[in-house]
Amino acid sequence: MIDTHSHILPGLDDGAMVPSVALDMARMAAADGISTIIATPHWPTSGVRYTPEQIAERVATLQQAIDEAGIKLRLLPGAELALTPAVVQVPEAELPTLAGTRYLLVEVLPYSDWTLCKQLMFELQVRGYKVVLAHAERATPLVEEPERAELLVGGGTILQVTVGGLLGQISLSSRGLGRRLVKAGLATILATDAHDLRKSPPKLTPARKLVTKLGGKNAFEDLTMHGPAAILRAADAASGK
Ligand SMILES: [Fe+2]
Repeated sequence: MIDTHSHILPGLDDGAMVPSVALDMARMAAADGISTIIATPHWPTSGVRYTPEQIAERVATLQQAIDEAGIKLRLLPGAELALTPAVVQVPEAELPTLAGTRYLLVEVLPYSDWTLCKQLMFELQVRGYKVVLAHAERATPLVEEPERAELLVGGGTILQVTVGGLLGQISLSSRGLGRRLVKAGLATILATDAHDLRKSPPKLTPARKLVTKLGGKNAFEDLTMHGPAAILRAADAASGK
């Protein structure tokens, strides 16, 4: 399985605080059957924004520790971008994409203006990016009007839902929307949005039963393997593998 949303890199954001926790998260993910994690530290609206090079360096350091610990896990660089005008204002080279591809993981901040969100996503697509909407079940404009999800998917946005959201660990409204998105086949990717070992752990299988019930027998595999695998294929193509 592939996890496309994880705050496993230590000391960059509100995820793993220290390297030992990051390593334990890697161990937990591997034990859950996750083979690849795209590390996605927050890329905030202001303050410190890590460059793609800085994130890649941190990934390489943690990958080395993972390898030395004998954990079978591949780590790739990424980021979770707050969807604000900054994403179209900074030079393209400063935008950390998922694993060096044209896929961008973006999150809609609480109470964001729907019209602005649509505009920004459209503008990113015009620039040739594939927008992956992080924890779509939590995006306020979609919670307010779930029909908007269809519009986004129709326009080429990829919807990512999270284990915690589906299991009701975020809110009742995102639990309802997440389930609706899986049932309707609108979600393409399931991710952990892992931050630690307990509250939001790096595990996908806790949602297996529910996803299967909602989306059918292939749904879990689709959301944890086939959906995110498209990003890895693009990553391999970009690096010439
Ligand atoms: Fe996140």
